[in-house]
Parts: sequence; C-alpha cells; structure tokens
Amino acid sequence: MTQKPNPLSSIKVNSPIPAHLARSVIEETLRAAILDGRIPCGAALRQQDLADLFGVSRMPVREALRQLEAQELLNVIAHKGAVVAPLVQGDAAETYALRILLEAEALRLSIPLLTADDFEQAARYIDELEIEHDYTEIGRLNRLFHMALYHRAPNRRLLKLIEEGLNEEERFLRFNLEAMGLGKLSQDDHRALLRAAEDRDIDLSVKLLEQHLNRGVEVITRYLDSAESKSRKTPK
Ligand code: NI
Repeated sequence: MTQKPNPLSSIKVNSPIPAHLARSVIEETLRAAILDGRIPCGAALRQQDLADLFGVSRMPVREALRQLEAQELLNVIAHKGAVVAPLVQGDAAETYALRILLEAEALRLSIPLLTADDFEQAARYIDELEIEHDYTEIGRLNRLFHMALYHRAPNRRLLKLIEEGLNEEERFLRFNLEAMGLGKLSQDDHRALLRAAEDRDIDLSVKLLEQHLNRGVEVITRYLDSAESKSRKTPK
C-alpha cells in the first residue's frame, strides 16, 4: 500500500472542547470530514490519534465512533479498528429495493398534506439542480428535492430511515456522479414526479418515483460492476 497523507491532518479543532460537548463535536467533525471526502473510504481511525487531536480522553472518542458506526459511516473491523465505510454498503440493488418501499410509502402519506409552498420549494430545487455543476451540491439538492415531497408524511421514524438512505446516496453521488453521467435524465424524472404530486395523483407519483429510483439502481449497478472489473486489473 502506498503511503497516504494522514487523513486527520485536514481536520481543524478549536480546542479546548468543553467536556460535555466532546462527543457531539467529535461526531459532527468526523461526519463532515467523511461526507466531504477529506477522510476517504477505507481510512482507519485510531482512538488514541483522535483523542490527541481533539484534546480529550478516549471515552468521548469511543462514543462518537459508535454513533458514526450506527450511521453506517464507519465499520469496526477486527485488528484495524474503525474504518471509513465504503460508499455503498452491501448490495446496491437491495439498498434501492428497500428505499423504493420506504420512499413510496412516505410519498403516499405526504402527497395529500403537501402545501403550495412545498411544491414551490421542490420546483426551486429542480431549477437549482438544472444549473448546478458541483457534484457535492447536486447530491445535496437531490436529497432536498426528495425530502420536500416526503416530509409531510406523519411517520417520523419512516422519514428518518429515508433520510439515512438519501444521505448514503448523496455521499455516493458526490464521488461518482461525474463518472456515471446521471444528471439530465433524473431532472426529467424529477419534473414529472413533481407534476404528478401537484395533481395529487398518488398512484402516478409512486409509479414515477419507482421508475426514477430503479433507473438509479441500474446506472449504479452497471457503474459499480465496471469499476470493480477495472480495479481488479489495476489495484489501487
Ligand atoms: Ni432524484
């Protein structure tokens, strides 16, 4: 393996951190650095390094790592410790199959409760997506667009699960969107979906959402397959 720069060197800490905030400061700081790629997939995070960096004991570090593991941003691996998780956990097709179930249900519950403001907001996200070229922003706007249509669903736990799935996708898109070339296609999907929701046509909306997410899984699966066959030839 080649010598990589220390991923923690990108992290700025405003110390001292009050003890009662230590866990949440560490958690937020590491989450941001993982999500924006400063700490790359596969990087191992050592508890003692983090404790030194943040100027705290190992206890809040351990708790923060546990939180990030629960959010699937880290995997704890024997002898290696906490390792930044791959961009898609497990099987992309299974992940999307589950997302389709959850998001279709949220959309169904949310549509009757959506307001004119909600539709306007969703339309604004589409407009912003149309002119955005930064892949980090595209991932974020895509998540916000989808949540704008789901967020009136009264089931908070359902929305939380959905947001986790969208966060995972956002992180994946940030690093892979350029190579996949998904952009314009999903814009047409988004517009059609918004129109059907505005018409309060639940069945059509759900059908369009399913198509949209299925298209996503096809592109991602194809992309991952080709990336995998490439990496077998040229190991990094
Ligand atoms: Ni989308």
